[in-house]
Amino acid sequence: MKTDSARRNFLRTGACALGALLMAQKSPAANGPLARRVPKTGEAIPAVGLGTWQVFDVASDANEKAQAREALKVFVELGGRVIDSSPMYGSSESVTGELAAALGVTPRLFVATKVWTSGKQAGIRQMEDSMRKLRVERLDLMQVHNLVDAGTHLATLRDWKKAGRVRYLGVTHYHAGAHGDLEKYIKPGEIDFVQVNYSLAEPEADRRLLAVAADSRTAVIVNRPFAEGAMFRRVKDKPVPDWAKEIGCASWAQFFLKWILGHPSVTCAIPGTRNPKHVADNLAAASGPLPDEAMRRRMSVYFESL
Ligand SMILES: NC(=O)c1ccc[n+]([C@@H]2O[C@H](COP(=O)([O-])OP(=O)(O)OC[C@H]3O[C@@H](n4cnc5c(N)ncnc54)[C@H](OP(=O)(O)O)[C@@H]3O)[C@@H](O)[C@H]2O)c1
Repeated sequence: MKTDSARRNFLRTGACALGALLMAQKSPAANGPLARRVPKTGEAIPAVGLGTWQVFDVASDANEKAQAREALKVFVELGGRVIDSSPMYGSSESVTGELAAALGVTPRLFVATKVWTSGKQAGIRQMEDSMRKLRVERLDLMQVHNLVDAGTHLATLRDWKKAGRVRYLGVTHYHAGAHGDLEKYIKPGEIDFVQVNYSLAEPEADRRLLAVAADSRTAVIVNRPFAEGAMFRRVKDKPVPDWAKEIGCASWAQFFLKWILGHPSVTCAIPGTRNPKHVADNLAAASGPLPDEAMRRRMSVYFESL
């Protein structure tokens, strides 16, 4: 009798544990994705966000817009918050604003966009336009896109920050050729965020820029984490190596993102997609173990060998 009851208890406990495990596998971010702190304030933000270049520029296509809606829904349900846009991205800002409002998730998002024009008044007009399109009273992060007229816009943004119109200001670029310029802007320590390309295919930022970001207490957002998708073409038809599964890489996307998040200076990576499955796949990289330095080297050598 006693043995039967003990076995029943064990099976019940085991079933619960298995259920929890399956749920964790289905939704690895059930307890929220790994978060990183913004160095200047200590605010924690999820380490995987969502890029909107091209993929949210879908105002004129109802099917694509429905897909973007589902992607945003899944993103927020799984604990995602950081979403990145730009006036350079066609209808992306207005689509993001419209969908976030329709889903009722605007207050949960950390909304980042950019200014991409020349001249003080043109910059102000564009930034006000972005806030209208994104349907926010105050932006979490406004970045100078590709450093276009950066001195002018940063002066405006310092005033806007004091007035509470933006919470953080930043600078971005997508190319290693501009890392030296980004470094000059962030070194004095007055910029909150630098957004830069960094991946196994484009690793140049870790030569100097990421160290300068750490020294100047600048948060780092990583754009082009998949080199605009080119990295998937390189690994096409090749399985993720078994040793990478030890650190929870269930897909190539997770292999690529975990390598990025393994760098301690990285605050958040923003893969671009409107595919809900890809959103979930990417957010799952922000759970479980991250690679240490030795593992990152192994991942890099392996990727180079492909
Ligand atoms: N200068 C700047 O400030 C600057 C420059 C470049 C980018 N950015 C920002 O950074 C974001 C990301 O960069 P990006 O969009 O150029 O390139 P990316 O994120 O490196 O790559 C996007 C590509 O990866 C694919 N992808 C995403 N998740 C995937 C997954 N789990 N499995 C398989 N494929 C996946 C997407 O395809 P699917 O659509 O099929 O998922 C898309 O083709 C941009 O959206 C933008 O917000 C900023």
